[in-house]
Amino acid sequence: MALEPFEVLYEADLREYKLPADLHHLYGRLGFAARVVYSNFVSSLDGVVTLGSKPSAGSIISGKYPADRFLMGLLRACADAVLIGAGTLRATPGHLWTPGHVFPDLATEFIALRSALGRSREPQLVVVTASGDIDASHPAIVKGALVMTTAEGARAIGNRLPKSCEVVAIGTGKRLDIGKAIAELTSRGQNVVLTEGGPHLIGQLIERGLLDEAFLTISPVIAGRKDDKRLGMVEGVELLPDRGAWSKLLSVRRHGDHLFLRHRTAPA
Ligand SMILES: NC(=O)c1ccc[n+]([C@@H]2O[C@H](COP(=O)([O-])OP(=O)(O)OC[C@H]3O[C@@H](n4cnc5c(N)ncnc54)[C@H](OP(=O)(O)O)[C@@H]3O)[C@@H](O)[C@H]2O)c1
Repeated sequence: MALEPFEVLYEADLREYKLPADLHHLYGRLGFAARVVYSNFVSSLDGVVTLGSKPSAGSIISGKYPADRFLMGLLRACADAVLIGAGTLRATPGHLWTPGHVFPDLATEFIALRSALGRSREPQLVVVTASGDIDASHPAIVKGALVMTTAEGARAIGNRLPKSCEVVAIGTGKRLDIGKAIAELTSRGQNVVLTEGGPHLIGQLIERGLLDEAFLTISPVIAGRKDDKRLGMVEGVELLPDRGAWSKLLSVRRHGDHLFLRHRTAPA
């Protein structure tokens, strides 16, 4: 296999799934609580996770680094559902939020892990939107998604989306209550939820104390800021100085010049 294993620099005593041998060889130990919401982001050294209107910012920031893509695939492979904001869907044309899409070399092992965990073949994609501005021809939407929105958003969507999608209206107004969205997933038996952002969605999850863990790849690149709006991992909420969400370090891995952090996040 071309990819070298991650180097484990620190790891707390954590739950452990029985990973297929190839996945365990590369990553080491990984597991989650029976009910959990965890995020995965890649950031530049200077804390940038988005690049204004440039599409696929995460890929650019990681330099499409294979170990980062492998970890994206592995974290997706563990999840019942992958939750994203409509901003991330719009900013990532052509993407599929499946394990095999980001790291096809180990697609079979990801499916084997899902099967061993009793998960469906692929995680359910969940998209939240207030505007209903969802591209019906985006491949991830064509493949099928659960679209969570408000009554107004559902009206705006109408019957534009393919039959592979389900639209669920949660409340009315400018945006849905993200706690109710998570509760809806739980009621459907989707208890292990990965969120791949973006920053506006993460801001709400952290503010509501709903994000249990955060995986963060630090890419060895400096992105800079000038004219574009370039966001950090959390947007739309101010926490420090009064409500800093202090977290606990769970693991640190290194692969080449990239650093891979895992934190238990605390309510703000
Ligand atoms: N570096 C990384 O790892 C990484 C990861 C993910 C994303 N990104 C980047 O992040 C950028 C997008 O981030 P973002 O923060 O602007 O977008 P986002 O959080 O993905 O999406 C925001 C949108 O989601 C919908 N939304 C969020 N909360 C909602 C709620 N409570 N109720 C109803 N709808 C809700 C709204 O959609 P409507 O506008 O449709 O109402 C809102 O405008 C992109 O550039 C993407 O590439 C980077």
